[in-house]
Amino acid sequence: MSSPVSAAWEALRAAPQHTLAELFEDEGRVDALSARIEWEAEGGSAGVLFDWSKTHLSEDLLSGFEALAEACDFAGKREALLSGAKINVTEGRAAEHTAQRGVGAEPSVEEALALHARIKMLVEAIHEGALGEVKHLIHIGIGGSALGPALAVDALARDLALVDVHVVSNIDGVALEQAFEACDPATTIIAVASKTFTTIETMTNATSALNWLRDNGVSDPTGRVVALTASPDKAVEWGVDETRILPFSESVGGRYSIWSSIGFPVALAVGWEEFEAMLAGAQAIDLHFRDKNGRDNLPLRAAFADQYYAQIRGCQTRAVFAYDERLGLFPDYLQQLEMESNGKRVTSEGEPVSGPTAAITWGGVGTDAQHAVFQLLHQGTHLVPVDFIASIAPGDALDPAHHAILLTNCFAQGAALMAGGNMASDGKDPARAFPGDRPSATILCDDLDSATLGALIAFHEHRTFANAVLLGINPFDQFGVELGKKMAKDIEAGGGDFDASTKALLEKAGLS
Ligand code: F6P
Repeated sequence: MSSPVSAAWEALRAAPQHTLAELFEDEGRVDALSARIEWEAEGGSAGVLFDWSKTHLSEDLLSGFEALAEACDFAGKREALLSGAKINVTEGRAAEHTAQRGVGAEPSVEEALALHARIKMLVEAIHEGALGEVKHLIHIGIGGSALGPALAVDALARDLALVDVHVVSNIDGVALEQAFEACDPATTIIAVASKTFTTIETMTNATSALNWLRDNGVSDPTGRVVALTASPDKAVEWGVDETRILPFSESVGGRYSIWSSIGFPVALAVGWEEFEAMLAGAQAIDLHFRDKNGRDNLPLRAAFADQYYAQIRGCQTRAVFAYDERLGLFPDYLQQLEMESNGKRVTSEGEPVSGPTAAITWGGVGTDAQHAVFQLLHQGTHLVPVDFIASIAPGDALDPAHHAILLTNCFAQGAALMAGGNMASDGKDPARAFPGDRPSATILCDDLDSATLGALIAFHEHRTFANAVLLGINPFDQFGVELGKKMAKDIEAGGGDFDASTKALLEKAGLS
C-alpha cells in the first residue's frame, strides 16, 4: 500500500505537463504567481516581489504539491522549527535562527535579545574608542562563520563603512597576508568567529594574526581580539577576555548564524541600527512563512518549483544570477545554505532517499554572466531553472542609463529563456535556434538596503527548510564534512592507512 507521501508524488508525476507559452494563455497568471512580502519602512512600506510565473507551476502542480506538503506534515514541521523543538534529530538540537529575529520560543527570543544587547554594547564601545582608534577589522572564520559576514559587508558597507572589514577564511596564508597588506596593525582588531572554536583553519589563522600584531609592535595582541562563538569556554581558554567574548546559542546552526554574534563585523561596519534593520527584514519573512499556507507561502511555493525541476524534470542544478554588483557573494552564500543543508542521502529516519536531494547551486552576477555562461542556459542540453535577483532602486549614483541597462538585460534574459526563437534571417538555422520554454523566477527588490538583504537571506533559509520537509530529510546536520577533516588530522598526526595514490602525493609534497 502506498504511503500518502508516495501517493502525492505519483499524482504529481501523472499531472499534465504544459509549456510556459500554454501557461501564459491564462491572463491571470502573473497575478496568481507573483506576490510581494512587505515591511514597514520610512515613509510607508518596502518589500520584495517574488515572481514565479515563468516557471512551469500549473494549477495541477500547485495543488499536487499542496497535497504533498500536507502529506509531509509541512505545517507540523514548521511549527516544530519555530517553537524550538529538537528538529535536528541526528544531533538532538533545535534550529533556532528565527529566534534571533524575534520569532520563536519565548526563552530563546529573550536569550537572543540579551546577547544582541551585548553585541550592540561592544560595537558602540568600539565606535566610541574603547579599544583605541579602530580603522580595520580582520574577521577570521570559515563556512557559516565567514560567508554571511562577507556577503553582508560586501552588500551593505561599500560606501558607508565605519570600519574597514576584511573577511579571511582560507587556511592558504595568501588570504591572510592579503588582509595584513591592507591593514595598519596599530589600528586593527581581530574577530575570531567559530561556533565550535576548534576549526583548524580559523584557529591557525587567528594565531598567525596575533603573531602579526605582536611582530608589529602591538604589546597586548589578545587584547585586540573579539571572539564570536557558541563555545565561550574555549575562547577563554584560548586567552580572550570575557568582556570581548560575544556568545551565541548552540541551537543556532553555523550556516544560519549571521543573525547572531557572527554578524558582529556587519554591525561594526555599518552600525547597530543597520544590523537591526537586517534582523527586521528577516523577521518580515519569518512572519509570512509562519502565517501563510500552501502556494501563498512564498518560500514553500519556491520549493514546489525546486522539487518539480529536480524530481520530475531531472534538473541537477539551479542557477542564481544577481543583477546587482552588491550581491556578488550571494551565490556563494546560497551554495553553503542549500548544499550543506540538503545535500543528503538519507531521510530524517535514516532510510535511503528515493530520488535526488539538493540541486547543485551555482550562479554569478549579471550582466557579466551573460557574456560567460548564459550560452549554456539558452542553448545547452541541460535544463537549468534560473533565479534572477535585482533591485528597482540603483546602487550607484551614475547616469541612470547604467541601472536601466542592468534591469532591462535582467528582464530580457528571463523573457528570452521562455520565448525562444531563431536568430537567423530565414528563421531556420539550427545553430541560431533557441528552444525556449526554459524556466526562471525573478526576485525584484524595491531597494537593496539592510532590511532587504535580511529578507533575501531569510527567504532562502525558509525555502531550504521547505525543500527539506518535502524531501523528508534533516537540513540541519552536516556530517558529510567530517570524513575528510578526520583524514587530514590522521595525516598530520603521521597515522592513517591511505591508498597508494594519496601516499604518493604526500610523499611528493614532502608531507609523509
Ligand atoms: O565544516 C563545516 C562547518 O562545520 C560548517 O557547517 C561551519 O559553518 C564551518 O564548518 C565553521 O565551523 P565553526 O564556526 O565551528 O568554526
